Formats: sequence, structure tokens, C-alpha cells
Amino acid sequence: MTVVEFGVAGGNGLLALAEHARYYSTATGVAVRVVGFDGGLGMPPAKDPRDLPYLFGAGLYTMDGDRLRARLGAAELVVGDLTETLPHYLRSRADLLREHPVGFVSLDLDYYSSTVTALDLFRGPEHEHLLPRVTCYLDDLPGTVDQIG
Ligand SMILES: C[S@@+](CC[C@H](N)C(=O)[O-])C[C@H]1O[C@@H](n2cnc3c(N)ncnc32)[C@H](O)[C@@H]1O
Repeated sequence: MTVVEFGVAGGNGLLALAEHARYYSTATGVAVRVVGFDGGLGMPPAKDPRDLPYLFGAGLYTMDGDRLRARLGAAELVVGDLTETLPHYLRSRADLLREHPVGFVSLDLDYYSSTVTALDLFRGPEHEHLLPRVTCYLDDLPGTVDQIG
């Protein structure tokens, strides 16, 4: 199976996923691929008022790509804006995803607009890249500023 993190930043979440993947692969014999998607340059400019630009600004959460890649092991890091990398990844890795369908997704992109793009993973007529049930973790659920703060 494949597990995905949308929004990697410094990589703590992706490294934790990779560690769990190694553990459960060994324990169960199920191969678990790990892939993270991130722009690599910190938050992009907001595109929508629902991105809450007064909370999350462009450039927040920078990534040290070289340092993170050195620690990733078999996990894959896809760098670039999701609007381009996700459709390209789904096309170019279609065979691999059919063999290892997505079974878990962590959504930690902070912006509404980026999260809507990430949910394209579930849109479209083809579902061969997904397991029948996909467990999702969502960070930063909508709420009032007081709840978020
Ligand atoms: C809160 S951080 C992720 C934190 C990370 N999950 C962790 O465990 O430390 C949000 C990340 O989402 C990324 N991001 C937001 N919108 C994006 C987009 N449209 N394309 C690619 N990455 C995006 C930013 O680059 C940022 O690094």
C-alpha cells in the first residue's frame, strides 16, 4: 500500500510515517510505500480568503530539502506546487499506485485552496490507485480564530 502526507515542511511527520511504515512492513509483510508532497519553499501565496492569510503567510514552514532527503530512506519526497505535482504523479506513477494503492492520507497543508487540490486524489472516475477505504488525518480543521489560536 501507499501512505501519503500532503504538506511536509521540515519533515517530522513524513519521517514518523516512514518509521511506522518500516515497523508495520516488517510486522505484517505488507509493503508500505511512503510519499510526501510539498512545495519546498514554505507556504505559497494564499489564493483564497478561506486560506486564512492572516494566520498563515507565504514563506512560513521552510524545508531543508537536502537534510530531509538524507534522512528519508525509502520514502519519496515530491517537491513542487500540488496543482502540478499531484496530477503529474498520478499519471506517471499509475502502475506503481495500482500495485500499492493509497490507504492512508495525512492532510497538513494549512490552506483551504491547497487542501481542495490535494482532495483531487479522490476525484475522477478511476479509483484503482485507492484502497476501498482510505483513512484520512486532517490537521487544522476549520474553526473560529479563537479555536485555531
Ligand atoms: C504545516 S506545514 C506541514 C507540517 C508537516 N506536516 C510536519 O509534520 O511538520 C504546511 C506545508 O504545506 C505546504 N503547502 C501548502 N500549500 C501547498 C501547495 N499548494 N503545494 C505544495 N505544498 C504546499 C507548505 O510548503 C508547508 O510546508
